[in-house]
Amino acid sequence: MGGRKILLIIGGGIAAYKSLEVIRRLRQRGFSVGAVLTKAGAEFVTPLSVSALAGEKVFQDLFSLTDESEMGHIELSRSADLVVVAPATADLMAKLAGGHANDLASTTLLATDKTVLMAPAMNVRMWNHPATQRNLAQLRKDGIVFVGPGDGEMACGEFGPGRMAEPNDIVVAIENTLAASSGALAGVKALVTAGPTHESLDPVRFISNRSSGKQGYAIATALAELGADTTLVSGPVALEAPARVKLVSVETAQEMLVACDRALPADVVVCAAAVADWRPETTAGQKLKKRQNGATPVITLAENPDILATLSHAVPRPALVIGFAAETENVVAYAQAKRTRKGCDWIVANDVSPGTGIMSGDQNRVHLVSGDGVEDWPLLDKAEVAHRLAARIAGVLKGRTA
Ligand code: CTP
Repeated sequence: MGGRKILLIIGGGIAAYKSLEVIRRLRQRGFSVGAVLTKAGAEFVTPLSVSALAGEKVFQDLFSLTDESEMGHIELSRSADLVVVAPATADLMAKLAGGHANDLASTTLLATDKTVLMAPAMNVRMWNHPATQRNLAQLRKDGIVFVGPGDGEMACGEFGPGRMAEPNDIVVAIENTLAASSGALAGVKALVTAGPTHESLDPVRFISNRSSGKQGYAIATALAELGADTTLVSGPVALEAPARVKLVSVETAQEMLVACDRALPADVVVCAAAVADWRPETTAGQKLKKRQNGATPVITLAENPDILATLSHAVPRPALVIGFAAETENVVAYAQAKRTRKGCDWIVANDVSPGTGIMSGDQNRVHLVSGDGVEDWPLLDKAEVAHRLAARIAGVLKGRTA
């Protein structure tokens, strides 16, 4: 990612001190950083600290003759690869949502032709105010990307959402957003499986599991955002079809395998589905009825096809095949064994013990098991796990095709 330029707009909030750390980390990673400091921002951090860390002059004034002769605000807004607003105050969000342009920051945001990433920071009540939430919805609609805010204790002593994302998370979001806007997976064909399968006993009963499909849907979304031509083969879930993804809805493991087969060849396959390992050997044509003598039915099970193992041995083989391992004990050891047994390249392993809340929740703590070893990722939103995985996939596929 080195050699790319970030334009950082620092708004007026106590979290502005964290933006100094963002600049430091970006410079360490080889980015160059231009900075705009708003009048309110300058009440929290000094232009001198910002320019010392950025190694460049700080822009503060819309009508500065020297700034205008050196670089007009239009040029400033377009000279970067990405515009980042951190902290993004309620005021800056409102200005952009309303199209106002009465200072350098708001003018730059309106004039830019680049993606804008905002890291909001404000008091919890300000964040929850209908006006801010309305502006947030409008900005999202306009294509503005957001990182945070997080929950926690705030400088004002209150608790709740409004804390600016941590510097490291902002830097990761910057890298993900740049990867997305550069179409890092353009020309790549991706296949993702998601959700549970339903294995019918009779027309009204089935065997299934608690998978929500959230992680697989997030992965398909993240791959498509990077420009991959993405097919999502999904079991029955209560989720909306992701944008830019070809959704193929199936019920059973056997149907899932047929749909995956049809989507081949693919460059990358991610099997996130919680496929039922077994199905009833026979499916009754009519609803099974209770017997008069009280005898309970005996259900004989047949093993389902292993879709991950099948796709790992497809000809031509996808360049990268990734499986998931949902375990309740010995998470990494079982995942390593599963990787070898199924013949895939990576296993994303997670602990789905009931206490973790992972199975139907919005967060996930995963271990990425590959031939190179094991990486432990922190507890992240499922969307963030998906973005990181998609960025890793882009790195590997680019390496192989370069
Ligand atoms: N998987 C699959 N088809 C199956 C079963 C599993 O594609 N019939 C895939 C899942 O999508 C996941 C991985 O295999 O990527 C791990 O599935 P899991 O059920 O945990 O593995 P098993 O081999 O069934 O091992 P066990 O149940 O003994 O843990």
